[in-house]
Amino acid sequence: MSVNQAVQERYSAAAQEFELALCCPVANYDKALLEPIPDEVLERDYGCGDPSRFVEAGDTVLDLGSGGGKICFIASQIVGAAGKVIGVDRNREMLELAERARPQVAEKTGFNNVEFRIGNIQDLGLNLNLMETWLADHEIKQREDLLALEAEQKRLRKEQPLIEDNSIDIVLSNCVLNLVGEEDRHQLFKELFRVVKRGGRVAISDIVCDEDVPQHLKDNDELWSGCISGAFREDKFLEVFADADFYGVELV
Ligand SMILES: C[S@@+](CC[C@H](N)C(=O)[O-])C[C@H]1O[C@@H](n2cnc3c(N)ncnc32)[C@H](O)[C@@H]1O
Repeated sequence: MSVNQAVQERYSAAAQEFELALCCPVANYDKALLEPIPDEVLERDYGCGDPSRFVEAGDTVLDLGSGGGKICFIASQIVGAAGKVIGVDRNREMLELAERARPQVAEKTGFNNVEFRIGNIQDLGLNLNLMETWLADHEIKQREDLLALEAEQKRLRKEQPLIEDNSIDIVLSNCVLNLVGEEDRHQLFKELFRVVKRGGRVAISDIVCDEDVPQHLKDNDELWSGCISGAFREDKFLEVFADADFYGVELV
């Protein structure tokens, strides 16, 4: 099984039934901001921090790997009527959980400013719904079909991107980047830089480690999908951002 498949299966199950082993949420959320959020979302908090405290009124927010939507619903109340929140996740069951809660939260808060989109966070250009619609009409059987698929992906990224260039005030992520395969990480940080406005911000809560993770642990699907063996080296995390042209990066 690939890392991606393992992550996909684990979070499909965890969206439907709470999994304790995936959970290390912090407890210092503002309780008033949690009040409008349904229990089924609060129970499925698979985060490891609270990046929402860096959000400001009026921001356009992008939450990478939004899961059940908790951070998006908190951010929605902070950004208010002048702001907007987009959650991206590639797991349908997680998106269904978040979508179920969306109208309930909007009714209680009065802010109808959250949207969930299906996508891979390392490829925020590709709108997977539009890709799927195209695939329904185009069978991939031979080399030429693959070329047509590549051309369509390129067209979609350029003409109808999932997230536009230079459109986000603050990118958030809570315990997700460690799940992205190492081969995709360079692309992931390039995508963050592409979507964030000049002068915008990124606030990441994630799992880090202080020595290299041995290969046999990285190869363990259970540990990878459980947010353990994909941990970033703490002392190299800042370099990863710097390589993607971010500046002013701090560990807090
Ligand atoms: C550990 S959970 C965290 C969910 C949420 N941020 C929270 O705080 O509860 C990881 C989430 O990231 C999603 N995910 C993992 N890899 C992803 C990827 N490459 N692209 C999009 N979503 C991804 C999973 O489907 C899952 O919902």
